[in-house]
Amino acid sequence: MGVRYRPIVNELSEYGAIELEELRKKFGKNALKLAENECIRAPPESLLDYIRKEMDGMRRYPTCNYSRLKKTIAGIVGEGCKSENIGAGNGSLEVLDLMMRTFMEPNDQIVMPVPTYYNAMRQAIVNFGDSQFVNTWPSLEINADKVLAASEGAKIIYLANPNNPTGKQIKMSEIEKIAKGAPDAAIFIDEAYHDYCDASAMQLLPKYPNLVLFRTFSKAYGLAGFRIGYAIAHPDIISAFDKIRVPFNVDIAAMAAVEWASKNAKWKDENVKETLKERTWVTSELRKISGMKPIESSTNFIMVFVEEASAIKEKLESEGIMISSFSDFPGLPCQNLRISIGKHDENERVINAIKKAVG
Ligand SMILES: Cc1ncc(COP(=O)(O)O)c(C=O)c1O
Repeated sequence: MGVRYRPIVNELSEYGAIELEELRKKFGKNALKLAENECIRAPPESLLDYIRKEMDGMRRYPTCNYSRLKKTIAGIVGEGCKSENIGAGNGSLEVLDLMMRTFMEPNDQIVMPVPTYYNAMRQAIVNFGDSQFVNTWPSLEINADKVLAASEGAKIIYLANPNNPTGKQIKMSEIEKIAKGAPDAAIFIDEAYHDYCDASAMQLLPKYPNLVLFRTFSKAYGLAGFRIGYAIAHPDIISAFDKIRVPFNVDIAAMAAVEWASKNAKWKDENVKETLKERTWVTSELRKISGMKPIESSTNFIMVFVEEASAIKEKLESEGIMISSFSDFPGLPCQNLRISIGKHDENERVINAIKKAVG
């Protein structure tokens, strides 16, 4: 064929999402996916009432300026957040991608302490960013001075707080030091897991207009299938983002799901409460197993350092249990597993399977 792809196409592979459908074909009801840090349970049926109300609008394009959606999200965020601080998209990953495009031109620098969120690294490549990795091994702590030393001329500094795949939090003082020390860079703070901990850079936003926060309804709200996430930033950044983004990038079902979420914070809080209780249990069980070193987590998953990750992962897979591993990963020179927190019986199954696997 005579077509000419962008050279980057040859360097990338398709994202290897874990397909529950495939797993179910093989293991039926025994298929268990604890690999993508999803919510412990599905939303209740009351969500459907909100979706049904929008049926009439289905043949039309949704609103493009999202004024109601932005207002609803601002209400959920609280802390003085206004509609003009909100940019929305098809999952926070799309918002992150579009925000990268709002700032970066080919070969612009994007600084990323590693290890960090795989898809953020990937979209930086797709958007021609010149990624500057800052090593955090072995402490896995983000050090502002080290980040700033790598940030001269950088357009973007990306920090996931809490981080994926480690589950670790960044000290707010370090985030503030970075925001202050790099006023010409957009500081992206990915807060996908903020519902599972108290950490948020929200209170720094009025003081540092270069901050851009990213949040999602995919985790504690259990709405990953609707693909809805958002950015919180200075109105100037949001209006630049709204010029770059694809029009109509949030569909009416997702908008209805956000309306539902705005009335169901209690349900979300219960999910968080149960997840944290289960996380404590899983962490303590893992500590009892020889060779397992779980990292203290601020999220709905746990990273565990192990001696032989692939052998354990394969044994679990043979029982229909999917977890993740980030061995051979930038900034993570050790064998590891990442286990999402599920319901108690699911967590018991994983723990028993790991015990059996290390035998
Ligand atoms: C750090 C981080 N950011 C963003 C996302 C993507 O979330 P969304 O479903 O809103 O695209 C994830 C998903 O796992 C994540 O771990």
